[in-house]
Amino acid sequence: MKVLELKGIKKSIGQEQILKGIDLHVSMGEFVAVVGASGSGKSSMLYIMGLLDKPTEGEVFFEGEKIDFSNDVKLSQIRNKKIGFVFQFHYLLPEFNLLENVMLPAIKLGMRKDEAKERAYELLKALGLGGKEGRKIYQISGGEMQRVAIARALINEPSLLLADEPTGNLDSKNTQAVMNIFQEINAKGTTIVMVTHEMDLAFRSKRIVEMRDGQVLSDRLL
Ligand SMILES: Nc1ncnc2c1ncn2[C@@H]1O[C@H](COP(=O)(O)OP(=O)(O)OP(=O)(O)O)[C@@H](O)[C@H]1O
Ligand SMILES: [Mg+2]
Repeated sequence: MKVLELKGIKKSIGQEQILKGIDLHVSMGEFVAVVGASGSGKSSMLYIMGLLDKPTEGEVFFEGEKIDFSNDVKLSQIRNKKIGFVFQFHYLLPEFNLLENVMLPAIKLGMRKDEAKERAYELLKALGLGGKEGRKIYQISGGEMQRVAIARALINEPSLLLADEPTGNLDSKNTQAVMNIFQEINAKGTTIVMVTHEMDLAFRSKRIVEMRDGQVLSDRLL
């Protein structure tokens, strides 16, 4: 089954055309790495895949259903229930502690508080943050924030995980921890699209999509 389908996607901002006609399918269970030079349009494409930004032209289908970008309620429903995001900038809530930041999306969807808490503990532990659950966001490092953002993206067990440079700030040990988790959840069925600059990480996915200048330059299965 196709999780995501982009058809003739173009995006312009002012005079500049950032995406110049992208046709891409992502099937259930895939692990896709998106690579390409800075400014090639990787993040812009990911925002559209995550229904966070509206294309100027073209169509997006999510689980076979054509997306109506003017229906905000429906858009946020799909996003909250089905999609986990890890952004280049992680947008954590500084006034809350790690545990609360991770629990929040689950509470929003109506998960019981004790269950959300238990899951959040487990995810933080798996990401090497065990023991730091009670700290505030401003009391941890940038790399730790990145991992809290990953835990937050995973708590609702999304069917699609979109990650923009998820290991961007991390040392090699924590990069490996994140990649291990991604491979684990992918093996359990989560579809992943991950933007990365690092080819060695791209090679741990199952498919590499290379972008250049707002277009898909190559698309190969590993
Ligand atoms: N809101 C915006 N307004 C104007 N131009 C934008 C905006 N967002 C992105 N761009 C431009 O669109 C192009 C693609 O940007 P995008 O962020 O998608 O690139 P990227 O491949 O993710 O780069 P990086 O690897 O540096 O994150 C760039 O030329 C960028 O300057
Ligand atoms: Mg980017």
